[in-house]
Amino acid sequence: MKKLVVLTGAGMSAESGISTFRDSDGLWENYRVEEVATPEAFTRHPQVVLDFYNQRRRQLLTCEPNLGHYGLAALEKDFDVEIITQNVDDLHERAGSSNVLHLHGELMKSCSVKDTGTPFDIPPEHPDIHIGDTDSKGNQLRPFIVWFGEAVPMIDQAIRLVEESDIVVVIGTSLNVYPAAGLLNYVRRGQPIYLIDPKEVNTYRTDIHFIRAGASEGVKQLTELLKDLP
Ligand code: APR
Repeated sequence: MKKLVVLTGAGMSAESGISTFRDSDGLWENYRVEEVATPEAFTRHPQVVLDFYNQRRRQLLTCEPNLGHYGLAALEKDFDVEIITQNVDDLHERAGSSNVLHLHGELMKSCSVKDTGTPFDIPPEHPDIHIGDTDSKGNQLRPFIVWFGEAVPMIDQAIRLVEESDIVVVIGTSLNVYPAAGLLNYVRRGQPIYLIDPKEVNTYRTDIHFIRAGASEGVKQLTELLKDLP
C-alpha cells in the first residue's frame, strides 16, 4: 500500500466547533497566545493557564469528529495513512485513525513540570488539572502541551514519516508555525502534494494541488482524486 502522510492544523477541527488560531485578530478564544501558551505564562500565573486549558478540555469533550476526520480514517482501507497533527484535540483518534502523531501535545493528557516527556491520561470524568495535583514524586502537573519556546520532541519522527511517504496531504494549517511548517521541505520532488483549505495558504512550493474547500468537503474531493492516481 502507498504511504499517505497527512499534516493537519486547526482548520481540520474547525467544523467540529474548535476555533482556529489565526482567523480572529490574534486572539485565541479571547486570549493572547503568549498569555497562556508559554512556560513563562505558567510560571507567572499558573491558575490562569490551568483554567484556560481546563476550559479547552471541557469544550473538547462536547465536540465530535467531523466528516473530514472520518474521511481520513476511511482512507486506511486503501493507504497506509500516517497523520501528523499540530492539533491537541483527540478527534482523529475518535474518528478511528490508527496512526496519529501529535506534534504539539495532547489536551487529554498531563505531565509533571519536571518531566514533560511522560504523559498521563486525564479521565474525561475529572477533566481539570488543579494547583496541587502532582505526580507520584510530588511534582506539580501541567498540560501535556508543547508551548511556544519549548522543544518539539516529535519533529524528528515526523520528518522521517514525510521522507518515507509517497503522497502528502496538508489540511487546515496556515503553515505559520515552525518546525511543523518546515515539514514540506522533506517532500521529494515529483511526489503528489494536496492542500485543503478554504483560504489561500502561502507556501513557496509551486507543485501543490490546492483543494479550496473546508475539511469535510475537501477530504471528500481528495478521496476521489486519489482514486485517479497511478
Ligand atoms: N477546513 C479547513 N481549513 C480551515 C477551515 C475549515 N473548515 N476553516 C479555517 N481553515 C484554515 C484557515 O484558512 C487557516 O489556513 O485553517 C488554517 C488555520 O490556521 P491557524 O489558525 O494558523 O492554525 P495552525 O496552522 O494549526 O496553527 C499552528 O499555532 O498557535 C499555534 O500551537 C498552535 O498548533 C498551533 C499552531
